[in-house]
Amino acid sequence: MTRIVLLADLHFGSVPPELAIKLTTGIAALAPDLIVVAGDLTMRSRRSEFSDAKLWLASVAAPLLMLPGNHDLPVWNIFERFANPFARYSRVTGQSLMPVFEDDHCFILGLNTTASWQPSLNWQEGTARRRDVEAARKLLAEAPPGKARIVATHHPLVAVEGFPRARPVRRAAGALAMLGAERVEMLLSGHIHQTYAVPLAEPAPPMIAVGAPTALSTRMRGEPNGFWLIEVGPERFSLCLHSFDGKGFAPTGPARTFARAVKA
Ligand SMILES: [Fe+2]
Ligand SMILES: [Fe+2]
Repeated sequence: MTRIVLLADLHFGSVPPELAIKLTTGIAALAPDLIVVAGDLTMRSRRSEFSDAKLWLASVAAPLLMLPGNHDLPVWNIFERFANPFARYSRVTGQSLMPVFEDDHCFILGLNTTASWQPSLNWQEGTARRRDVEAARKLLAEAPPGKARIVATHHPLVAVEGFPRARPVRRAAGALAMLGAERVEMLLSGHIHQTYAVPLAEPAPPMIAVGAPTALSTRMRGEPNGFWLIEVGPERFSLCLHSFDGKGFAPTGPARTFARAVKA
């Protein structure tokens, strides 16, 4: 079994310091095999915010698989935003923009949906670039069969009933078709600061879309700060939301289980 903690939208720059310490403690108690950080490490991509993020990331003792979010691109330095949009993020995290984690049970891939500009009025929204989708396809095609295939993005790739802020990124249809063909079983994302875990009707075999709340930021959308603990077993996924209850991060209820469509 693999234990994954899904964090999103830490937003250093709007983080109560004592909450960050509680999060470190809460994660350590779970001893995860991997921590996924699904974008928006900072509020305004300031160097001081990235420094705080770096310090916090060093406080957790598990491998990290990270993605940039729209808040991690330079806001005021327009030259840097267009010439080298992910430089600050990459310097601090040391991560590839298409990170991969693999163990005996899982193959997990990060697909970067953040863009420095868009042919629309809202640059906050995401896009699944054709070249990234193709690179992801190659990695998935070469991944060993029999492992749970999970893809993390910052922006949701799919619409989710009851969550109007979950709007699919540009070119989501092509990305989803590829992920379905490559038998991806679970999609992880952040960005909307809202929590859900729903099986999708299409493509087949069904995927489970998982959205994480903001783990640390004061920019909450009617939910407490929290994160998902995802356990990947040979037959099923088990998902348990951990939320901040005023003292620490604790399970909010029994875990939800989903039978795996692709048995190991
Ligand atoms: Fe965010
Ligand atoms: Fe975001």
